[in-house]
Amino acid sequence: MYNSAVFLNATISLTLAIFECYSTFSHASHHHKKKPEWMRAQERWAAERKKEREAMTPEERAACAYFLEENNLQKLKSDPGARIKVSKGFESLQLSHYAKEFLLFTGESPNTVVLDIGCGVGIVSRAALDWGCTVVANEIDIGLLNLLNIRAGDKRERLSTALGPFPDVNIKPNHFGAIYAGAIFHFFDDVTITRGLKACFDALVPGGKLFVTVATKFLGGKLTGLHGFIPNLREIDSKLYETYGPTLNLLEMKDWERFFMEAGFVVEGEKRGYFVPEGFPEELKLDGNEYLGIVGRKRLITRHRPGPSSNFESADLPR
Ligand SMILES: C[S@@+](CC[C@H](N)C(=O)[O-])C[C@H]1O[C@@H](n2cnc3c(N)ncnc32)[C@H](O)[C@@H]1O
Repeated sequence: MYNSAVFLNATISLTLAIFECYSTFSHASHHHKKKPEWMRAQERWAAERKKEREAMTPEERAACAYFLEENNLQKLKSDPGARIKVSKGFESLQLSHYAKEFLLFTGESPNTVVLDIGCGVGIVSRAALDWGCTVVANEIDIGLLNLLNIRAGDKRERLSTALGPFPDVNIKPNHFGAIYAGAIFHFFDDVTITRGLKACFDALVPGGKLFVTVATKFLGGKLTGLHGFIPNLREIDSKLYETYGPTLNLLEMKDWERFFMEAGFVVEGEKRGYFVPEGFPEELKLDGNEYLGIVGRKRLITRHRPGPSSNFESADLPR
């Protein structure tokens, strides 16, 4: 009797141990599976570019430093060709129309706490610091955040950094008066765009605004006619891959309006529009609609289920 109880106990323990082992393993592999291949490709790509940047010549470094020092809202010079390579994509050293709109909006209430997603070399973050804002700058590239920290100088006390891939980075909810996301959402697939916009919505205080710029489906060259998510840009062109990263999601205004509305934003109809960034590469130009900007506002009183027609403030504008 005693023996069979011991045997039973041992059997149960063994079964539980096997089960535990199995569930740990299956959890781990499930967890692993959660990160899609395109996202891992982005990480590999960022590591490759980091190596490249580390190998920059002193002249190239000096050129970057010059532009970084010169760029602030007051001293902005007209140098449309100025673009430098950051860890993903190229970055114009001019503030875009949408960056200026973002700053003007925060200027309406000084000391606004703002978030700059994928801040790159940080021209918008630095302009916002100059403007009197408190800034949280997000990047996947620690080198760029370090650079920003150094260049913030005595305004550093109003700057904090959030290192990590947005939207999987810790961002305080209900905290920011305005968010700027310049030339970053076009790297994400639709699911990540949805998650990212929701994260922005949650991070904003009521009445806060989100300013987004992205590349559109109206790109030229080898990208002409492509619409939607491209998980492997290298298959199309290795040069594009090196410059812009492994993925691009080429959409148009109505796609972005839908994403914004689904996240709960009121789309500011008169503010959205297509544009060509300063110094945009000739080989990717098509028809003047290569980029778009869109601004969303979080209502002061959030409804539970905003209907599509109820959260659009239309003025005019085609497309
Ligand atoms: C094309 S640059 C744009 C920089 C700047 N926001 C602008 O408007 O010019 C994109 C930047 O986003 C960063 N980035 C890319 N994916 C990111 C992610 N998931 N989370 C945070 N930063 C990211 C890159 O390292 C790069 O510096």
